[in-house]
Amino acid sequence: MLRLTSADLKKTKIETLTIPVCEDKDIHNDPIIKAVIKKALKLKEFNGKKDEVVTLYDLPEMNAQRVILSGLGKLEKIDQEALRSMAGKTVKGCIKIGLTNLWFAVPDSVSVKIEISAVLEAMQEGAFLGNHLFQKFKVEKKRKALRQIHFLVTEKVAKKMRLLPSRITAVCEGTILARDWVNTPSNEKTPEKLTRSIVSQAKKQHLKVQVLNEAQLKQKKLGALLAVAAGSQSKPSLVILEHKVPGAKSTVALVGKGVTFDSGGLNIKTGDSISDMKSDMSGAAAVAAALITAAKLKTKTNIIGVIPIVENMPSGKATRPGDIIRSYAGKTIEIGNTDAEGRLILIDAMSYVIKRYKPQLLIDLATLTGACVVALGDKIAGVFSNDDDLAAGIIASGEKTHERCWRMPLPEDYKELLKSDFADMNNISSTRTGGAITAALFLSEFAADTSWAHIDIAGPAYLKKESTYCGPGGTGFGVRLLCEILERV
Ligand code: BES
Ligand code: MN
Ligand code: ZN
Repeated sequence: MLRLTSADLKKTKIETLTIPVCEDKDIHNDPIIKAVIKKALKLKEFNGKKDEVVTLYDLPEMNAQRVILSGLGKLEKIDQEALRSMAGKTVKGCIKIGLTNLWFAVPDSVSVKIEISAVLEAMQEGAFLGNHLFQKFKVEKKRKALRQIHFLVTEKVAKKMRLLPSRITAVCEGTILARDWVNTPSNEKTPEKLTRSIVSQAKKQHLKVQVLNEAQLKQKKLGALLAVAAGSQSKPSLVILEHKVPGAKSTVALVGKGVTFDSGGLNIKTGDSISDMKSDMSGAAAVAAALITAAKLKTKTNIIGVIPIVENMPSGKATRPGDIIRSYAGKTIEIGNTDAEGRLILIDAMSYVIKRYKPQLLIDLATLTGACVVALGDKIAGVFSNDDDLAAGIIASGEKTHERCWRMPLPEDYKELLKSDFADMNNISSTRTGGAITAALFLSEFAADTSWAHIDIAGPAYLKKESTYCGPGGTGFGVRLLCEILERV
């Protein structure tokens, strides 16, 4: 990060400089920047309105080839997300025209609502995440990420900065790691391959790593997890990542759904509903990436990540509808539908971590139900919890990172819908309605007395269309959220 004074600005050779401009307030103190904004505002096509952009070339005021003025709109509407979006969109625009270096002029003040450190943090986050491309499987790599992104801040602002950029770098790298895992096609991330990839990334950050293989899962009787894996040629695993802090007061357990491909099993999915099911391990990706990030940030809580990894496939060996299986916790489950597989692998992972590690908090992330997407759309996650404080903490963290979460109910009387005539429970509800709730209620039976929250990320984990600071596909939803939550507990 570079600091800037007016004198420096005249001297420094800059390829492209972006100046965010507010519609109804002057937010920059530097006289040169002010002069450039004044010039731009004289043009009739630029007023600093939201999403307005104008590019000026070869200005005599500074040594920059190109100055992009980017409208932020009205002051009262500017929040961290507006700044992330502005930065992300600018970076994407620059990539499209083949630029390599970009500078952002950080405003000196935006409003009393946002601290200047939060302004900088948001711009860095948006720029960093917007600079991510997933081209691993393209022979001809058409686009190049920007090589350098700089932030120009005046001395006064530099002194006030609370957050070190290294935190933002780590959190964004984690988000990108999760996106890459999600975008990887299922043939390149079979359970064995995904397990190896997570293990190797975790070891790089010196996390304690343990992998239970199929034989060990059988010996320990994780029957619900094994039932989901039965139809696949690939072997399942349970990956356990530990971030250990000597003397830490509490232990937080994170569980992430890792279905590398969800065909539905014998209740096979059709057409559209099967097409993006490589993303059914987004919970696993977020949990693994959050642990890796926590290790980098030296987070002060003990964290255990438990990641069940399977592929849900139909075959002669697959679990059938009507089969009765025995979960690790001992409850028997009738398989009403093989496509309700996520809850089966989650309950064994939850029971295992509760029994072995006795965590104070347990949070699971899962692309669990299409019903949650129907309820909240594809940008908002559903939160279900038996602990009001935990739910409130998750929702507040989501507001901060703009990974929006909405609390959903766990009505006791709906549990009746999960009754089975032949086993302790059925894995699907007897009604078609309220599917996100009944799935969460199924999980709640295995949370025992632990403070637990379930975050259904089926909507926001994967977006076909690109957005301001994310490409098409995996969004990395949950990584920044979990990092925020972990720093609060
Ligand atoms: N992985 C799906 C849920 C999903 C749907 C994720 C859309 C992302 C986008 C899950 O395993 C599933 O198939 N759920 C079923 C449950 C049903 C069989 C009770 C569903 O939502 O239809
Ligand atoms: Mn399914
Ligand atoms: Zn699934």
